[in-house]
Amino acid sequence: MNDIKTAIEVCGVHHGFGAKGSNLHVKALLETSLSVAKGELLSLIGPSGCGKSTLLNIMGGLVSPTGGEVRVDGKTINGPMPQSIAFVFQENALFPWSTILENIDVGMIFQGVSKSERLERAHQSLKAVGLTDFANHYPGQLSGGMRQRAALARALSLETDIILMDEPFGALDEQTRMILGEDLSILLARTGKTIIFVTHSLGEAVFLSDRVAVFSARPGTIKHVIEVQEPHPRTQAFVTSDKFARLRNELYGLLHDEIRKTLSADFRLPSAAADGGRANVAAHS
Ligand SMILES: Nc1ncnc2c1ncn2[C@@H]1O[C@H](COP(=O)(O)OP(=O)(O)O)[C@@H](O)[C@H]1O
Ligand SMILES: [Mg+2]
Repeated sequence: MNDIKTAIEVCGVHHGFGAKGSNLHVKALLETSLSVAKGELLSLIGPSGCGKSTLLNIMGGLVSPTGGEVRVDGKTINGPMPQSIAFVFQENALFPWSTILENIDVGMIFQGVSKSERLERAHQSLKAVGLTDFANHYPGQLSGGMRQRAALARALSLETDIILMDEPFGALDEQTRMILGEDLSILLARTGKTIIFVTHSLGEAVFLSDRVAVFSARPGTIKHVIEVQEPHPRTQAFVTSDKFARLRNELYGLLHDEIRKTLSADFRLPSAAADGGRANVAAHS
């Protein structure tokens, strides 16, 4: 029976891209199981190419896994569920030829929301992300941080219980992402939404998450889960605390070996470091 407190259950999911046996076949995700509680913010962190986006897309019904299943509210999913799950991607997810308001509107049109309610919801979600004055601007007239706020507003307007976010602040400078992280933590405290958040930032993962799932190198699977146990909304005081530093270090320790494995699969370190490793540094800088 489904636990009423569980939002998403990933049950023995694994995935390969391309036909098995073909030289284009990529094993992207090893068997992975995970349960996400309602109202929880869970981050996925791991080396580049380890299967984080693949898992997120499978959780959102955008990719059908080679094996295993995902259950949302106890029901096995077999495609996108626009009434239950909204997405926020890294960048370029807004139509440049449409205003922010029109960009927000289009998601709700797909959901079948009435026109008057769409306008009401759009204004509410723009207010929630502090973009009320930019409803009629085009994405190109906004900063990168504001565009990501707009993408978040679009997801909020859909009023889904679950939001999946794939490195939503990944293209932004560190200061902007810190502020957006604080805002997201405040929002989470207010709305009780379930959020799965892919990031490559250790600090962002600790700051935002209730739990952080650490991936192994490709083909990835969840190697370890750490609990943050800190109430939302989180503030600057948490960032400067000993607890934050300890958790960030723990995460770094867990990730370090996996990242090293990924890199050494891509290029070989010189065994006798006669040149102090400079040849590799030069090749990859
Ligand atoms: N559509 C696709 N077709 C073929 N291979 C893919 C596709 N998407 C991802 N992959 C491969 O699957 C692996 C995992 O990718 P991805 O989930 O995007 O990693 P991450 O998000 O952790 O960086 C990578 O090796 C990538 O090249
Ligand atoms: Mg990715």
